[in-house]
Amino acid sequence: MVSKAMAIAHAIAHAVAHAGAMGLHASTHAWIAYQGLSWVLDLTMPSVILIYGATGGIGSCLARMLASEGHQLHLVARDASRLGALATELGARWTVADVLEPDAFARVSDEAPRALDGLVYAVGSINLRPLARLTATDLSRDFQLNAAGAALAIQAALPALRASGAGASVVLFSSVAAGRGFPLHGSLGMAKAAVDGLTRSLAAELAPAIRVNAIALSLTETPLAGNLLSNPRTRESISSMHPLGRLGQPEDAAHFATFLLSSRSNWITGQVIGVDGGRSAIASH
Ligand SMILES: NC(=O)c1ccc[n+]([C@@H]2O[C@H](COP(=O)([O-])OP(=O)(O)OC[C@H]3O[C@@H](n4cnc5c(N)ncnc54)[C@H](OP(=O)(O)O)[C@@H]3O)[C@@H](O)[C@H]2O)c1
Repeated sequence: MVSKAMAIAHAIAHAVAHAGAMGLHASTHAWIAYQGLSWVLDLTMPSVILIYGATGGIGSCLARMLASEGHQLHLVARDASRLGALATELGARWTVADVLEPDAFARVSDEAPRALDGLVYAVGSINLRPLARLTATDLSRDFQLNAAGAALAIQAALPALRASGAGASVVLFSSVAAGRGFPLHGSLGMAKAAVDGLTRSLAAELAPAIRVNAIALSLTETPLAGNLLSNPRTRESISSMHPLGRLGQPEDAAHFATFLLSSRSNWITGQVIGVDGGRSAIASH
């Protein structure tokens, strides 16, 4: 905060001094100072954001990035102690909720702010099994967690998203496995393909007031991928399948999510965009 305050003071002083040196009118000084201020503060960013899955690898990284830029956050996850600790660290409000329980979304909306500029749904699963071992419960759980949960979260937040002064932005998470076929990904690929369909449908239905986009990730180093990455040989082998030569980091996803939440992306809606080390589009060597 100190460095940001110093940067703001520096930007204003610089802008006003520059305008003075050029013999400009006072209103021009004010305009230039405002430009300096908005550059430093990024006033184009939304300010009130609801994050489901906020304590996860990606959710917590994004929450920290947004909090460091001064945004007001409302955080959701199941584990009360981890959620409370993160919310306290970031000066955020929070609701403990399980998205597999029917009353979760109404409760979150009751406790979240009345106007929201952004909603992020960063809850999901990596349930990899051959078709022969997938149960009906696996299929419906993966669908609920990844796709239906996202739809219900947006539905419950609609009045608040519509109340955003600046136009709201919704960010969902899909997977490279929705657009490409991988063995063992039947349930996950199906659920994430539903996220892609949801993204495009809601982007059409809610435009122009609310933008809806999804980030389609390849394997990213978070607790969700922990089991898969615990074996060093598997880890090395999966890394090498990415043309950019490495696994994803939470920051890769969070940086792009902050862009999609900001008004810098305000002509982008209905898109499913790969943040995947090139895995969806190009072959590795
Ligand atoms: N990591 C990857 O390789 C990868 C790849 C493709 C797509 N994605 C997608 O990226 C998004 C973020 O994933 P991540 O890797 O950050 O996952 P993560 O580290 O496992 O975090 C998941 C978050 O969701 C919360 N959560 C889990 N189940 C929940 C439930 N039933 N109700 C409410 N909250 C619940 C978790 O907290 P609690 O346990 O306390 O509830 C945690 O905050 C997900 O949509 C995922 O499918 C990830």
